[in-house]
Amino acid sequence: MCKLEKFNYALFGNPIDHSQSPKIHDFFSIQTGILHIYKAINIPLGQFSLEVSNLFKKNVKGANVTAPFKKEAYFFSSKLTKRANIAQSVNTLKKVNDKCILGDNTDGIGLLSDLIRLKFIKKNFSILILGAGGAVKGVLLPLLSLGCSIYILNRTVSNAENLVKQFNTYGKIFVFEKKVFKKQNFDLVINAMSRNIKKKNFVPLSLISAKTFFYDMNYSTENTPFIDWCSRIGVDFVSNGIGMLVFQAAYSFLEWHNVFPETNYIINTLSRN
Ligand SMILES: NC(=O)c1ccc[n+]([C@@H]2O[C@H](COP(=O)([O-])OP(=O)(O)OC[C@H]3O[C@@H](n4cnc5c(N)ncnc54)[C@H](OP(=O)(O)O)[C@@H]3O)[C@@H](O)[C@H]2O)c1
Repeated sequence: MCKLEKFNYALFGNPIDHSQSPKIHDFFSIQTGILHIYKAINIPLGQFSLEVSNLFKKNVKGANVTAPFKKEAYFFSSKLTKRANIAQSVNTLKKVNDKCILGDNTDGIGLLSDLIRLKFIKKNFSILILGAGGAVKGVLLPLLSLGCSIYILNRTVSNAENLVKQFNTYGKIFVFEKKVFKKQNFDLVINAMSRNIKKKNFVPLSLISAKTFFYDMNYSTENTPFIDWCSRIGVDFVSNGIGMLVFQAAYSFLEWHNVFPETNYIINTLSRN
């Protein structure tokens, strides 16, 4: 028998028009029989705390948080999971009671689950990450925990340096400079720059090989510029971030409802559209 939730769930972001999260959560809801309502809500910049506390005072029980509010959600949370505390970034909120909103970060476990599904990751890999924003903060801990060496290449070098300072007690993490990279090429390249950034060469070709895996955290019905570049240079192992999106949503769903939904069907459906 279906269980009807009297509470609502939401995505908070700005902008939120491109988001696939409502579709994914509607699918999880139907599949598990936990009939919650999930809506994307555009939060005006500078008003996160005020708007979100009002929504939690009404009937919102849980939420996903996307750019640019993951840092604000971290400060907004009254209690944090260990992984959100280390990341200092929150993408999942859960109302525990009237006095307590729990903040979690499921981006890292979401990415790792998808890399495992794709067979794109092994212990001790050398990984180049392009970008040093909120999403990268969320994914570093599980990758470092696998013993991977991580090199960050970012437009603003000081942002990459700050991430290295934040995470270097958890494993091998460096700002990318040719002289500190001792191996011949990377095992995995992850693009975590904002959507639609175009580059003639995202990575110098001397740093990759025919065996390198390429993962774009971005996703779109069309090819992203990074995936287009991968096609241009003719590499074999390439994926966009739709699987990460589905897995991070599934782990949020688990946090809210104690049920882990099936993910393959929705990944395949969204990949085809
Ligand atoms: N698949 C998923 O589930 C998932 C989850 C999370 C995020 N994402 C996607 O991942 C992307 C990054 O998210 P985020 O939250 O980390 O965003 P963010 O905090 O805004 O960070 C953006 C990053 O892109 C860089 N950047 C922006 N404009 C650039 C330019 N013109 N040239 C070079 N670099 C530029 C920034 O560099 P500076 O430091 O120099 O500003 C920063 O490193 C977004 O597109 C988001 O949709 C996907």
